[in-house]
Amino acid sequence: MIPAVADIDTVQRWLTESQRVAVLTGAGISAESGIPVFRGAGGLWQQHRPEELATPEAFARDPRLVWEWYDWRRTRVAAAEPNPGHRALAQLERHVPELTLITQNVDGLHERAGSRRILRLHGDLWTLQCTGCGRQDRNTDVPLNELPPRCRCGALLRPGVVWFGEALPVEVLQQASTAAETAQVFLVVGTSALVQPAASLPFTARAHGAHVVEINPEKTTLSRYADVSFLARAGEFLPRLLQLRH
Ligand code: OAD
Repeated sequence: MIPAVADIDTVQRWLTESQRVAVLTGAGISAESGIPVFRGAGGLWQQHRPEELATPEAFARDPRLVWEWYDWRRTRVAAAEPNPGHRALAQLERHVPELTLITQNVDGLHERAGSRRILRLHGDLWTLQCTGCGRQDRNTDVPLNELPPRCRCGALLRPGVVWFGEALPVEVLQQASTAAETAQVFLVVGTSALVQPAASLPFTARAHGAHVVEINPEKTTLSRYADVSFLARAGEFLPRLLQLRH
């Protein structure tokens, strides 16, 4: 379906008139960089069971297996480049007085595209965290030298991501909620909007009066609640939508 020009004009006007804009992104924004999404055809959760790879119990049972999967994902992301969708959002930071980019992604492609103010709800593939002393370090080696990697204190290191059954970082979630409550426009890009608490942020924004705009080639559970839902691929469509007047 081709997005209606009238809708594009309306959303551009909302964006140019806004002081505060928030964006929630999911795996779909990185799809055009060649990073697989989680759900649906070809999604990671069709090949793997989340509970075997992305839970604290899985790590306790078989840290090497979990690390092999994360090492594979890190290698894949390291070979990828940010796409025009990531870059358009980085540009948007220059047009909007207060832009908050909230991402569920752990790939670091928003940073590499130049976005500065990023709230990472699910952590970061490039942070390693010690299960013993709690030390956190940035590590970009691909592949890792040792699987599973160990801290200097001798304990196992784990990926600095949020697994199923774990709480999100409290302060990050608080900031994301505040951004949703105060945004005048809330963009939702490339997420199935199924995983809580991220999925509730667009509803918080809407309840506080924001215009909610979705960009996703597929309909989601959010689509019928959004003010405008563009059925489009982020990398193709965001550069067009976000061509804003100064
Ligand atoms: P999903 O895999 O659930 O959803 C990806 C969404 O991206 C789908 O709605 C697709 O239709 C859409 N999509 C695909 N290609 C796109 C494109 N080119 N442009 C825009 N959208 C596109 O991924 P998330 O919603 O991010 O959590 O999943 C949320 C969380 O569930 C992840 O952070 C991860 C996962 O399990 C953890 O691992 C804790």
